[in-house]
Amino acid sequence: MSDATAKKEERRKFQAIRGTRDLLPPETALWNRVEQTAHEVFSTFGYGEIRTPILQMTDLFARSIGAETDVVAKEMYTFIDEMQGLPDPSNFAVSPDEYVDSVEEAIKRNEIQVTNSNLRALARLKTELERFRVRADAQSAEEAHLKFRIAASQIQFGDSISLEPEATASVCRAYIEHNMQQLPQPVKLYYMGPMFRRERPQKGRYRQFYQIGAEVLGGSDAPAIDAEVIEMLMTYFDKVGLHGVTLYINSIGHNAENCRRGYVAQLKSALEKVKDQLGPDSQRRIDTNPLRVLDSKLESEQAIIATLPHIADHLCDDCKAHYAAVRRQLEVRGVLYEENWRLVRGLDYYMRTTFEITAPGLGSQNAVCGGGRYDGLVELLGGPPTKGIGFAIGEDRLILSLQESGKAKVEQGRDVYIAWMGEHAYAAAIRAAKDLRNAGFSVELPPLEQKFGKALGQADKLGAKYALILGDNEVSEALWTIKTLSTGEQQKLPEPELLQFLRDQKPESQ
Ligand code: HAM
Repeated sequence: MSDATAKKEERRKFQAIRGTRDLLPPETALWNRVEQTAHEVFSTFGYGEIRTPILQMTDLFARSIGAETDVVAKEMYTFIDEMQGLPDPSNFAVSPDEYVDSVEEAIKRNEIQVTNSNLRALARLKTELERFRVRADAQSAEEAHLKFRIAASQIQFGDSISLEPEATASVCRAYIEHNMQQLPQPVKLYYMGPMFRRERPQKGRYRQFYQIGAEVLGGSDAPAIDAEVIEMLMTYFDKVGLHGVTLYINSIGHNAENCRRGYVAQLKSALEKVKDQLGPDSQRRIDTNPLRVLDSKLESEQAIIATLPHIADHLCDDCKAHYAAVRRQLEVRGVLYEENWRLVRGLDYYMRTTFEITAPGLGSQNAVCGGGRYDGLVELLGGPPTKGIGFAIGEDRLILSLQESGKAKVEQGRDVYIAWMGEHAYAAAIRAAKDLRNAGFSVELPPLEQKFGKALGQADKLGAKYALILGDNEVSEALWTIKTLSTGEQQKLPEPELLQFLRDQKPESQ
């Protein structure tokens, strides 16, 4: 490296990774408000909070979301968490046979998980052991051992781990792991936190984004459950101040010949007939996942898609009745919806009810929430047969939409700025700050003495409502000056009356 390049490297500025961002005050106050409202609303519907680890087994997502979906096939952040504690293959004291034995033992003890990649690694290691034996016969054992060591140290054992791209699978895993089927059913859980998908970043689409979600597991698949989940969601949006949303619903039936499978076959043959008029993505999907063609946003494909068969005409009687009952139940609850036969969702675990909510001000990434029913997912992950339904709100998009609609005002300024001068005044200022903070006021106490003019300027910049002026006069007279910064009015109060004065001005927050 040249000197100049080295210098440049030294001065390099670190930036947040593409698709990730820092959330800063005052915006974070809005995030807190949105989250606090979720805690409040969801608990009124009987939900409890679950926090699952961000790191999960890759297979959990491949099995549940589907190995062929965009999320699993292209977007997960995955790495091998290398096995610790195996003997070091580069150690001459351990013979190749001993090393391979130790790996097999670790697999038996379940210290190395029986995953495809670990089994492949074991097979490769055994091939290397064979090579070693052949070589050791022909060459010096030491040289053969050296070659084995080099090859073996390149074979990794460990767990394939991914950052959560969504949380439904993790919640189902936790339901099974903690035997939650033994609790009163259904179990109603909600969560909030970061999710990770390596998508192309744009407005409303990030690689680290945040979801607020809820899942109802166990119990029955009564349509009233679907409707109540959606009612809760709409109540939440209303409380948080998100207006102008549209709820789209659909039913994608269940995976049987007389239901979705039959429909998909018909859809596929209809698509084959118009294949030439479709773009390359849709053409590919005819074979991999014909339902996803319905998701296409390509302008040129819209007229063709409009002619395709609708799933509603191919649902089995039970799924049809379930869907009709969900709509009725929504109406009983006064929840407005629009049906959208093209709403198929991008994750494999859904069946029957699917829904999505769009919000204004978001451009092309306008889905602020997605969800649906996923009976059978818990069973697919090794648990008992279990019904399930849930949703996840894209918190980043929710915040964006609130900001665009001007509903994002969160008070951030301090209540009181204490402008003090002089040592005696400082002691009084510390006491006042303590009392006011204990009473719930936000107080800025400057660490260094400032001239009053400068202090008041600072108070203004920080958006303080009041300046408490404490100088030698105030302390000796035991009368404190409080100035209302918006009007410039000021008055003198005895110390004990200060708190009451502020409380009277701001009764709602106390
Ligand atoms: P999803 O539709 O993949 O569903 O994501 C739900 C919501 O998360 C989306 O509607 C969107 O608002 C937000 N979102 C997704 N990806 C991004 C991104 N890259 N940047 C910003 N926001 C994003 C699920 O995740 C399911 N687990 C929902 C569910 C829960 N279904 C049943 N239970």
